[in-house]
Amino acid sequence: MVERKLIYQIYPTAVGSLRDIADKIPQIAEYVQPDYIWLNPIFASPWIDGGYDVSDYKKIDPRFGNMNDFRHLIATAKKYNIGILLDLVMNHTSSEHEWFKKSERHDPKYKDYYVWLDRPINWKSIFGGPAFSYDETRGKYYLHLYDKAQPDLNFNNPRVIHEFREIIDFWKQYGVAGFRVDSANTLAEDALKSGILPRITGFFNYFQTEETVDILEKVLARKDIFTLAEPIGGQILGKSRFRQLTRKAFDAAFNVGTIDIADTFFSDRYHMKPVNYKRWLKYLASWSTEPKFSMALESHDTPRAPSRFQADPRVLAMLQLLLPSNYPCIYNGQEIGTKNPKLSNNIDDYPGVQSRMMYRTLRKEGKTKRQAMSAVRLASRDNARQPIDWGEYILQSKDEESTLRIYQKLIDLWRNDPVLVNGKLKVKKITKTGVFDFYRIFDGKTYKVHLDLSNKTVSYLENHEGQKLIRSR
Ligand code: GLC
Repeated sequence: MVERKLIYQIYPTAVGSLRDIADKIPQIAEYVQPDYIWLNPIFASPWIDGGYDVSDYKKIDPRFGNMNDFRHLIATAKKYNIGILLDLVMNHTSSEHEWFKKSERHDPKYKDYYVWLDRPINWKSIFGGPAFSYDETRGKYYLHLYDKAQPDLNFNNPRVIHEFREIIDFWKQYGVAGFRVDSANTLAEDALKSGILPRITGFFNYFQTEETVDILEKVLARKDIFTLAEPIGGQILGKSRFRQLTRKAFDAAFNVGTIDIADTFFSDRYHMKPVNYKRWLKYLASWSTEPKFSMALESHDTPRAPSRFQADPRVLAMLQLLLPSNYPCIYNGQEIGTKNPKLSNNIDDYPGVQSRMMYRTLRKEGKTKRQAMSAVRLASRDNARQPIDWGEYILQSKDEESTLRIYQKLIDLWRNDPVLVNGKLKVKKITKTGVFDFYRIFDGKTYKVHLDLSNKTVSYLENHEGQKLIRSR
């Protein structure tokens, strides 16, 4: 039987402190029954990029609590057979990290911890603007593939590799079960040549080089931990690259292209287009059979799926859990069908670096304030980072037909039904209005799945005896 694990992602500010998260574990265990909870970064951080700018990898950010609270969280999760995965940001640190402060001052041990150049080259940052910034203290330019407050580490330096091996051992001592590795396939830059693509200049000089894969294998392989990669590159991430990345270093990996196909953050530079269901569903189906693929429909980097795909959350749940999805990842709040909240019309109210960049880009392109804000409200990652409505959780737990209860039933089937665990996928029909019919076939039994994202017809799972095991309404 193939290995299958269910991951539940928690963006800490959506739930609260580590104690608050621990308090919610019984509920999450009852309805979602995850094998792992992946926590987005909880390390000390100035919070320029929502925790992805770490200033100390061995310290809990005081906004979430302290080491005792962390121990309590690990112990609570363990009671429910849930392992905790931490988010390991390896590509870069915060510019407030002690390593960067020392590197700036040319400290002999740290001077080569980052990528310094005398003269900048024309690479662009993934967050917009140049990827090199001048550092007054050092008198040189440093690389930052993301924000200028997130300098890129130099993984050609064995000391940097060693630091991460130590960080992993440090957290293992506290009982963590593994890590999700952020921006995993951008660690080593190939010879720092100037870029070749006009819109994403430099990208192909750092997109999953052989060196990066070697580094990850050195850091992560044989560590007796569960590892989950976030490779970037969206729709240009082909299956051979995916397999190369997951060969040894990772148990599973996302392909952000499957989440992002309808818009914005990683792929289409904020040109909002209607969802192309046919293209998206075909793509998702083809990835779903990839053994180490982790299927997610939402994350902290996307708007809420029911809003973006304009679909009933129960149908989305069926899509995620009835395709042969070995490592599905459910984002906090997804199981109660959370939609995008009504975000502010004033860009100054947005905490996220991405929302502000999106606004600036659209304004520069000549969009009015109103047009720019309406795109931001639709596509901002801040949509997914709002507090979860736990009252709604209680209400839905009492309603057989609710999204939460559908998740619970689907997850039971995903875990225990041999046809859904092992069944081959046979796609029958995918239409542009979002009708998706497919079969799962195992041991002489054929299950039929009819999904309708437009909700014009009832979506269902039917077993080999013609019984409807799940219905969307
Ligand atoms: C990853 C994270 C995203 C973050 C970026 C830079 O893509 O998921 O939230 O902004 O890396 O660390």
